[in-house]
Amino acid sequence: MKLPNHLAIIMDGNGRWAQLRGQPRVFGHIKGTRIAKKIITECSRLGVKNLTLYAFSAENWLRPEAEVSFLMKLLRRYLDKESQNLVKENIRFSIIGEVERLPKDVIDSIQKTMRATQECTGLNLIFAISYGSRQEITRAVSAIAQKVRDGDMSPEQINESVINEHLGTAGTPDPDLIIRTSGEKRISNFLLWQAAYAELYFCETLWPDFTKLDLMTALADFAARCRRFGGLKAENSPPPTQYSDEQLLH
Ligand code: FPP
Repeated sequence: MKLPNHLAIIMDGNGRWAQLRGQPRVFGHIKGTRIAKKIITECSRLGVKNLTLYAFSAENWLRPEAEVSFLMKLLRRYLDKESQNLVKENIRFSIIGEVERLPKDVIDSIQKTMRATQECTGLNLIFAISYGSRQEITRAVSAIAQKVRDGDMSPEQINESVINEHLGTAGTPDPDLIIRTSGEKRISNFLLWQAAYAELYFCETLWPDFTKLDLMTALADFAARCRRFGGLKAENSPPPTQYSDEQLLH
């Protein structure tokens, strides 16, 4: 089966999952973390090369303090507990997002996990934390503008590669497939630039209920799609016409 080289997931529906069970929202985040662990292992086993998980958006800072603080603790606990497993599974960990907004202990755990896994050559696992695509693009534009101001770059040198190199995702291929769970059909400030040609897959399952079978269903759906990147696939090319453009436009 043709796998996406880069799979990105918006893990949505934790709060609703908990509320449906009469439990506090954070219960959904706890279950959601277990599911994330399972899906990471499965992607690694299948041979997906890059996996980005939207773990905390720039807009999530607006949630009640107690939920934000719980999510930060959960993140830290995940990293501290999983770091050695990631190494065992040959998974390289990194993050995108405004890391400086995170609590110091979370930044420390992120850096430790990145160091511990830096030689790993299997799955490239990226957590988007305190991440917003518009913020990422704004930063890139600002950094490029400073280079132009300082005379290190001319406006004519700015092209798509230059912009790519100034994004948090520099060096990682664009996502081929973006999955969003929980029935919402939005991109919500996630990888806006990078998703130019991504296939989108939406499913009703709430993230804490997401199974390996749901993952396989999404991957099979992706494998069956015909990606043309704005061009034409050979078998879809029209037969050559006997008319000139002028005749056709007449
Ligand atoms: C969306 O559900 C999910 C989040 C805001 C956080 C996602 C975080 C996790 C799955 C846990 C942390 C992950 C790792 C890998 C440590 P929601 O709360 O917006 O749900 P709702 O839309 O039903 O309210």
